[in-house]
Order: sequence, then structure tokens, then C-alpha cells
Amino acid sequence: MPEARAIRHFLDLDEIDTKTLRGILDAAHAMKKAGKSVPAKLRPKHIDSKVLAMIFEKPSTRTRVSFDVAMRQIGGTTITLNNNDLQLGRGESIKDTARVLSRYVDAIMIRANSHETLVELAQHATVPVINGLTDKTHPCQIMADLQTFEERVGPLKGRTVAWVGDGNNVAVSWMHAAARFGFSLRLACPAELMPEKAAIDWARREKAAIMMTEDPDKAVKGADCVVTDTWVSMGQTDEKRRKQLLRPYTVDEALMAKAAKGAIFMHCLPAYRGNEVSEGVLEGPQSAVFDEAENRLHAQKAILAWCLGAG
Ligand code: CP
Ligand code: NVA
Repeated sequence: MPEARAIRHFLDLDEIDTKTLRGILDAAHAMKKAGKSVPAKLRPKHIDSKVLAMIFEKPSTRTRVSFDVAMRQIGGTTITLNNNDLQLGRGESIKDTARVLSRYVDAIMIRANSHETLVELAQHATVPVINGLTDKTHPCQIMADLQTFEERVGPLKGRTVAWVGDGNNVAVSWMHAAARFGFSLRLACPAELMPEKAAIDWARREKAAIMMTEDPDKAVKGADCVVTDTWVSMGQTDEKRRKQLLRPYTVDEALMAKAAKGAIFMHCLPAYRGNEVSEGVLEGPQSAVFDEAENRLHAQKAILAWCLGAG
């Protein structure tokens, strides 16, 4: 008997091998080139009968709209579910929600408050589950970021990316990507806001080229790309303390000048000008933030196609 095909969850970059991720990234470039009329070879089979459910426990502009449009452009349809529209919001278990939704839809994307919710959903779902951001990681964002880097700078291998600011969910997915794609990642974060230990230990085990420092200048020196993110992520409450700790970590023109010539600036957005990034850098010639936002659409098409069986 042929072995049952494993469900293609897209939960985190540390759980997917490099070859598969490379294939998804190549498909993202191809999706962009193809535009709205996605050729049959990039679409999963029977896509016109497939439905993606999207669950949001937190707000979203880019993830919500890009997944919705992506699913439609590859030929499927979507249902958007806010937490409070579901019985989940009234205490129905994740386990039951996963099994019920799996009887109706072909894939589930979730933006979850807690990473455990994502993991539990995937444990009990019999259709692919996609991580649309949790408190711990944001892998779909990083696929779009890698696509943007390759477009603007070139191949990732051997390059240097500098992360400046909070060692948050987006930073952890960058760490996973550094190991999978063979580039150096330098993280400059205040000691209290370094990425969580589990991610650091994983990166060490994978022998990823990761350097951690409290000094933004050291991280940015000669880097090919400088990345930052909001100082206060969704669900965090210690805003005052974070802002105090992160004040020396604004990515401004003086800091960007220390990066390599031709370096790009990235930010997953939404951005808070004057905090993590200056107006001049965000709007300046090195900024790739709107290409990055656009690439969410193309990367999402590639992720959905893979989850639904293409390639
Ligand atoms: N970058 C990102 O995930 O944006 P949204 O919160 O708007 O989805
Ligand atoms: N780190 C941010 C990313 C938003 C897309 C957050 O979790 O709120």
C-alpha cells in the first residue's frame, strides 16, 4: 500500500527542509512573474473546489488581504473568521474546532494569540494549517522578505542581514531562515529583549551563522539588509518599559549609513515612525517595505499552492 501523504502544514521554517522552502520561494518568484493569471502548472489540482478558512484572533491588514487575494488568484475561495464569530470565542476547544473545520474546508490559516493554539490546531486538523503569525513566529512574512531580498540584492547565501530592535516573533522566524538559507544574521537587541532561548539553542544546534549583540552599530556594519519591527507587538502590555529599552535602537539615516553600499531596509509593517524607524529611512531610496508588502501576496500564493499539493 502506498504511504499516506503527510499533511503539508506551514507552521514554521524550522520544521520545513531547505529544499522544500527553496521550492516555495522559487514558486513565489514565478507567481510574481505570472501576475493575476496564474498558469496551470503553478496551481494545485482541482483548486476551483478548494476553500481556505482564515481565523483571526488579532488584527491584520497585510496577512488578511494578501491571503484572501492569493487564494482567489490561484483559483480557490476563502472564508474569513474572526475569533468572536466562532464558538471558539465562547470557549469551544481548538481540538473540536480543528476537526469540524477540517470536514468543511481544504486549508486553515490562523493568526493566533498563542503559539500553542496553532500547534493544537495542526495536531487535530486533517487539512493543512498555516501560521499567519503567533506570539512566537511569523514564517509567512519571512518568505516574502526573502523574496524581496533576492529581488533587490541577489542570492541569500553568504550575505548578511542585521536585525535591530526587539527580539520578537519576526526575529525568530529570521533566525530559522538564516539556518535554512545559509546567510548570516546579526541581531542587535537590548539584553532583556533578546530572542527567546529556545530559538537561540535551535540556531546553535543547526550551526546557523547568528551573532547577537546589544550594539546596533556592530550588527549593521557592512550588512546587506537592515530589518526592524515595532517595539510593541500585538498583545504586549509593557509599552513604557519597551520604549525605554529600545530608544537607542531606532533605525535612522546615521545607522543605515554604516551598512553596505546598496543595502536595503525592510520592515514587515505596520511601522511606527520615530520609534523603530525614522521617517527618512522608511521613505528613503533604500527602503523596500512596499515591495515587501506586495510580496506577501506572491509568497502566499506559493505557500497555498504547496500546502494544497502543488509541486
Ligand atoms: N506584516 C503583517 O503581518 O501585517 P498585518 O499585521 O497587517 O497582517
Ligand atoms: N511583531 C509584530 C508583527 C506585526 C505584523 C506583532 O506581533 O505585532
